[in-house]
Amino acid sequence: MQDRVYNFSAGPAVLPLTVLKRAKEELVSLPGVGISILEVSHRSKPFEEIMEAAEINIRKLLNIPNNYRVLFLQGGALLQFAMVPMNILGGKSADYLVTGTWSKTALGEAKTQGTINTIWDGSETKFTRNPVAGELSVNPNAAYCYLTSNETIQGVQWQAYPNTGNVPLVCDASSDIFCRPTDISKFGIYFACAQKNAGPAGVTIVIIRDDLMERVPANLPKLLNYKVLAEGKSMVNTPPCFSIYMVQLVTEWLLDHIGGLDKMYERNLEKAKLLYDAIDNSGGFYRGHAVKEDRSLMNVPFVLANDDLTKPFLEEAKTHKLVQLSGHRSVGGCRASIYNAMPLEGVAALRDFMADFAKTNG
Ligand SMILES: Cc1ncc(COP(=O)(O)O)c(C=O)c1O
Repeated sequence: MQDRVYNFSAGPAVLPLTVLKRAKEELVSLPGVGISILEVSHRSKPFEEIMEAAEINIRKLLNIPNNYRVLFLQGGALLQFAMVPMNILGGKSADYLVTGTWSKTALGEAKTQGTINTIWDGSETKFTRNPVAGELSVNPNAAYCYLTSNETIQGVQWQAYPNTGNVPLVCDASSDIFCRPTDISKFGIYFACAQKNAGPAGVTIVIIRDDLMERVPANLPKLLNYKVLAEGKSMVNTPPCFSIYMVQLVTEWLLDHIGGLDKMYERNLEKAKLLYDAIDNSGGFYRGHAVKEDRSLMNVPFVLANDDLTKPFLEEAKTHKLVQLSGHRSVGGCRASIYNAMPLEGVAALRDFMADFAKTNG
């Protein structure tokens, strides 16, 4: 393991080392099965049990009410941007909260399907904050209201979700699912691609309230139809078996090793504080992107006041085994993604490196 580095990638992202070791141990032969997860039939009992266990774990972690289905789909979060309106717009309009790049992308995809209204747009303030309660007015007749719980690129995270009354709230939680306790009953649909906090790329978790399935148009192709996918228990065609297996291991790690989402949240608060303190106490050498109230626990974008130092910072960081710290290509600067699986020691190492770099170059 000596060559493992601290990986601050925004996704696919760091996975818990214990999970990787277990997957390695079991790769050639699943215990009691004698077949690799890469070879096992998705219609076999062993795989059905893995998928069931993954769902049970997700239900436990998020305390999901019985009137919600948990689906394991393909096509990434991006496909959900189109599937949500395709399935539940029902000829009405929908309201979108644009708080960063991902909600903006979701808006664009949704517009291909019908009438979509932007009821808040943070682009004028460069997506540094989320709206506050008084700024929002949701159309009571909207089919749904859409938000992104954590903007992975801008590092802006909702701390309390807006109350949308009877209008179902749809949430893209791709970069912060499982980072803290979450009340799923607040949402009509809650979805997340796996490759940040839930597993490897290849599977997207979609949690959907039963009644919304009544709206699904009958003429949708099977693989785009939530109702068909739910009735077929996410097995309408071959599911991404390995990715689902990994989600099962990651969620088991969250339950058994971490001790649930309250505990995960405590750890995440501690990790994020280390990094934000490093930025705030740097005397302006580093500057964070988001306003303090809306700062993300998962993605910490920051810039160096002297941009000429950004490249040397990133290069030198690598020599300290701190990698994947470049900001998204659309915004530049730096970004440290500190998902659930990033250990405290990794964040502390980055904090120490940042302090040393500032001292030498400030
Ligand atoms: C918040 C958010 N939504 C959506 C996506 C897109 O996910 P995918 O690449 O699985 O389509 C990402 C990925 O980076 C993301 O961070």
